[in-house]
Amino acid sequence: MFLVNIGLSLIVAFIIIRKVLFPAPEVIEEDEGEQLPPLVFTSYTPRTLAKFNGTDDPRVLMGVKGKVYDVTAGKKFYGPGGPYENFAGRDASRGLAKTSFDPAMLTPIDQPLDTLADLENHELETLDKWEMTIEAKYIHCGVLENEKA
Ligand code: HEM
Ligand SMILES: *[C@@H]1O[C@H](CO)[C@@H](O)[C@H](O)[C@H]1NC(C)=O
Repeated sequence: MFLVNIGLSLIVAFIIIRKVLFPAPEVIEEDEGEQLPPLVFTSYTPRTLAKFNGTDDPRVLMGVKGKVYDVTAGKKFYGPGGPYENFAGRDASRGLAKTSFDPAMLTPIDQPLDTLADLENHELETLDKWEMTIEAKYIHCGVLENEKA
């Protein structure tokens, strides 16, 4: 028991000394998000949102449950080549609800917005949790609405 304690103490001491001598590198600055001018709160349609997929415009926007979020700070997730690039410039609601990147989760941009009417309760709960995560991290910069007829 005594030897075990000494062993554990040595490990802890080693970890602490290593932390002091070699501190973890500072978190790297998030993309070019900061240099962009502030976004004016705007109403988007699926078509006007689509160009904010990080290709032409450096800004990356994402729709969730009728809200639009500026996810530019998370460009490494949503920007071109990122794991969630499929959601950039799109209504991500269904994909988040079903935790799926399947392209079939995305409503074509010339179609009316997804009403999510067929989703199961547990899927809606999953979507709400994602929404809270996104709301906590990104700026709610607009609304996503159908095109006026
Ligand atoms: C192989 C399966 C997956 C792995 C290993 C994975 C891993 C991760 C990790 C490590 C993070 C945290 C990144 C960070 O904050 O630094 C993250 C965030 C996230 N994941 Fe996943 N994920 C997977 C699948 C999915 C799927 C299927 C979806 C939805 C379709 C999804 C949506 C998200 C979203 C929206 C975030 C938040 C990104 C942000 O902070 O803006 N993930 N994932
Ligand atoms: C992103 O939007 C541009 C138009 O702004 C388009 O040419 C390109 O195909 C889009 N990329 C994806 C992956 O949809």
